[in-house]
Amino acid sequence: MNTPLLETRDLHVWFDLERGGRAHALRGLDLTLAAGEGLGLVGESGCGKTTAILAMMGLLPPSATVSGEVRIAGQDILAGGEAGMRPHRWTDIAMVFQGAMNAFSPVATIGEQIAEPMRLHRVAEGKAAIRRARELLELVGIHPDRADRYPHQFSGGMRQRAAIAMALACRPKVLLADEPTTALDVIVQAQVLDLLDRLRRELDLAVVLVTHDLPVVSYVCGRAAVMYAGRVVESGPVDALTSTPSHPYTGALFAAAPDIDQTGTGASIAGAPPRLDEEWCGCSFAPRCGRADARCRTETPLPVTVATGRITECHLIGEGR
Ligand SMILES: Nc1ncnc2c1ncn2[C@@H]1O[C@H](COP(=O)(O)OP(=O)(O)O)[C@@H](O)[C@H]1O
Ligand SMILES: [Mg+2]
Repeated sequence: MNTPLLETRDLHVWFDLERGGRAHALRGLDLTLAAGEGLGLVGESGCGKTTAILAMMGLLPPSATVSGEVRIAGQDILAGGEAGMRPHRWTDIAMVFQGAMNAFSPVATIGEQIAEPMRLHRVAEGKAAIRRARELLELVGIHPDRADRYPHQFSGGMRQRAAIAMALACRPKVLLADEPTTALDVIVQAQVLDLLDRLRRELDLAVVLVTHDLPVVSYVCGRAAVMYAGRVVESGPVDALTSTPSHPYTGALFAAAPDIDQTGTGASIAGAPPRLDEEWCGCSFAPRCGRADARCRTETPLPVTVATGRITECHLIGEGR
């Protein structure tokens, strides 16, 4: 088998909490991704999506402890600490931060702000950096002359495109996009997703698309990993996850709609995820799962391959229930 472009192995993150104790926010993440492939990282707020991709970038705050591996083309970029990570960050692996479209400085032009990381990383200097900023804007569907404009002269959708352009400044092979369409209206959302899909194909980018909104992933991603309480509880082809979810949480996530409570099917996700500063027995979803039994509450489920490329952590799989 070829070496994957991006691979995480048993990646864990703990945060020291100000009130004392530690939150175990990421609990053993194993992902693989090839060039040109899209992977959706999906789950409710607080399940560890942002923590996972900040760990891959080596950008967690000092209160975080990380263990495990993040491999780019086989090389563990976490192994050498910050010095080992620096040559890879932005040039091999880059991210669009949650809320990036609102993070541009109001006092510099968009072109200058896209050029800045190129100068910092010595990808391009002086006028060449501005030239490349203009090319990048064109790549994301914005007229290059708009490089001279200020953020307030851009619409939300254009600022999000510009944020994506900025992440691509140093020609990364892997792009991590954190909730890139949240806060955009539906039409602009679709345009940004089309853009990410086009970039994935044209630049042969490996894209990790983080979202709490499951339908969004199918635009860009062939595969998805559903996270709950710091773990991937189910992963596989998006089509299969949508049509026949095998983990009750995946089913609930797809079914979750504003009026689902009234149906009485148990498909809505009542209750809250477990506290991450405590350990628990059994399946993390058991307290909210309509189908949980005694075993679910006492025994931690192990990953089971339910079909080619499909993995689920649920005791109910294969038990005919
Ligand atoms: N800097 C931090 N300090 C302490 N806890 C954190 C910190 N960042 C995130 N967490 C906790 O880690 C968990 C996962 O958060 P996050 O990765 O932001 O989730 P998501 O992106 O899926 O909404 C949450 O319980 C959150 O409160
Ligand atoms: Mg987040």
